[in-house]
Amino acid sequence: MKNKRILEKYKKKIELIKKFNKQYYDDNKPTISDSEYDELKKEILSLEAKNKFLDADDSPSKAVGYKPSKNFKKDFHRVPMLSLANAFTEDDLLNFEKKILNFLSKDKNYKIIYSAEPKIDGISASLTYKNGNFERGLSRGDGREGEDITVNLKTIKDIPKKISDKDFPKDIDIRGEVFIQNSDFENLKEKFANPRNAASGSLRQKNPEDTKKIPLNFIAYTFGFNRDLKQKKQSDYIKKLDDWGFKTNPLNKTISGIKNLIQNYNEVEQQRANLDFDIDGIVYKINDFDLQKRLGNVANAPRWAIAHKFPSNKGISKILDIDIQIGRTGALTPVAKIKPINIGGVLVSNATLHNEDEINRKDIRIGDSVTVERAGDVIPHILSVDLKKRSNSSSKFIFPNKCPSCGSKTVKEFNNITKKIDAVRRCSSEGYYCDKITIEKLKHFVSKEAFNIDGLGKKIIEGFWKLKLIKFPQDIFKLDYKKIEKLEGWGSLSVENLKYSINQKKNISLDRFIFALGIRHIGLENAKLLSKYFKSFLNFKNLSKTKNYKELLNIDGIGETQINSIKSFFSIEINFKVLDELEKILVIKNVIATQKNGLLKNKSFLVTGKLNGISRAEVKSLIEENSGITVSTVSNKLKYLIIGEKPTKRKVESARELKIKIINQDEFLKMLNKTS
Ligand code: IVH
Repeated sequence: MKNKRILEKYKKKIELIKKFNKQYYDDNKPTISDSEYDELKKEILSLEAKNKFLDADDSPSKAVGYKPSKNFKKDFHRVPMLSLANAFTEDDLLNFEKKILNFLSKDKNYKIIYSAEPKIDGISASLTYKNGNFERGLSRGDGREGEDITVNLKTIKDIPKKISDKDFPKDIDIRGEVFIQNSDFENLKEKFANPRNAASGSLRQKNPEDTKKIPLNFIAYTFGFNRDLKQKKQSDYIKKLDDWGFKTNPLNKTISGIKNLIQNYNEVEQQRANLDFDIDGIVYKINDFDLQKRLGNVANAPRWAIAHKFPSNKGISKILDIDIQIGRTGALTPVAKIKPINIGGVLVSNATLHNEDEINRKDIRIGDSVTVERAGDVIPHILSVDLKKRSNSSSKFIFPNKCPSCGSKTVKEFNNITKKIDAVRRCSSEGYYCDKITIEKLKHFVSKEAFNIDGLGKKIIEGFWKLKLIKFPQDIFKLDYKKIEKLEGWGSLSVENLKYSINQKKNISLDRFIFALGIRHIGLENAKLLSKYFKSFLNFKNLSKTKNYKELLNIDGIGETQINSIKSFFSIEINFKVLDELEKILVIKNVIATQKNGLLKNKSFLVTGKLNGISRAEVKSLIEENSGITVSTVSNKLKYLIIGEKPTKRKVESARELKIKIINQDEFLKMLNKTS
């Protein structure tokens, strides 16, 4: 009871400080003095210190200053700011290089030169220079649209305001990392959890004078949009950055060979503790810009770069219990509840056990003493069990054969493609029968890459679910706001904000919509492929009537696994009801055929046989770059069959029957005004 009172008091104070923050940062009209504000903040921190159970996400002890999103104008990046794929092991690196060599159709002895750049853990920013003048600076934001933080960036001494060098491009976005040195962070420890938060908080101060007080640094490492950039290699570009007056990382190097990358990685890791800035790994980029261009991007990351993360740290703990979590697709994931231990500055109390097979393989049991590893940003996992410490009374962990949430049978499916039984056990219920699955589906529905509804995070979805405010996705658009306003932690302002962000998202693109449905095996990329193919929600929905699932094989990238999954989605009654209801509420935008007038417009291609010096993947990206389409079967939708060495006979024969043009590699390249 006492705790409940404390919690209420704590929440009230947090609401209050949020109100004052808004007055100060957003409205520029503070109603209390600075010392009164500090007093309130101190009270919250002292409540937290005395009561460990108090840890609200929006507490001033955690929040990165105030996020004044309304204060900063948003603006689009001229070229998106991508993220990087991660590598943790030597195998990951070997795989990365192998994929690149395959894509470029080079043999395994081809020497790739990398630019190896220690990865600073700060906040990335993109600086636009026109005619040598620093004109505009954006934060990364979601990669496409960032916040205009020009005034704050101008306070950073490492950022040149004017560059008169003759060979500095007339128009370029210089990109790099804003960060704070560890020694400077010492004085800010009270205010921020770590140097990264300090940098981010200070960059977002409303008043640039406040930003100026915090010693921020900037290191440049790449570019976005550019005109007349003369360099052909990343290492030359970095040298030029130095000449132009930017700071670059003194530990950058060019290296080739995975063994040498690893040697450098180990050396840098040794130096890590002595550096005055935080690094969390090393970025490897293909040094040659022409090769980078050929490789291009996948979804949100370039194919030509990877971040080799430093390992985690390890720690020894004890398994207190094994919980079974149920995911959106019904997968049962065992999670070890461990005695909390501090690993690399983070208190870890959960570790994933992956799946039933993993538990059996390592014979992990409740009560075991285990080594836990925390690698990068991924969920900690159990490395090994110390059998010597196992008690005689311990018994094997039995994986539940009934879903702990809904009681349905749990099953391990047979995978028709790999011809193996899945390692994952799943709840066999369908649609929205299982509560846990439903909650996860709802979280996915509102998540960043789906409906991206601000202010409707996982905890809130769980809360609304418990209160029976939502059960199906459509309920999100029919919330009882009057009821929510009366709930603890909500006020009229926060309800208004929620209502606003939900209504705003009623307009949605078809790819996001398909992704939001959470159909198994239909991730973001596949949802994009499907939306491009169907063009409208109606066509997509009609699939359940035409049942012409085989036609999806025409979509390059969609295979049997995905098709079976879509089929099973459409075989469940409740999914139709959800689609119908959503259709009534939403405006699902049709895909308008891109107006790009590339050389291959309205032409479709399929490759059979081995090509010379160019991989299939590269051909595909060449076709798409030039507004053409790639298909994966010979049908009357195909215009050109490109044949290489040893083509599949059947494909060539069917193409002849259908009178499809058959061309070779040279003829194809000629269509693009290229030669091989
Ligand atoms: S290149 C497309 N180079 O890492 C390539 N990024 O996960 C992406 N970062 O948002 C940027 N040091 O904040 C690049 N030398 C470096 C980097 C670096 C740190 C950060 C950057 C980016 C994130 C990608």
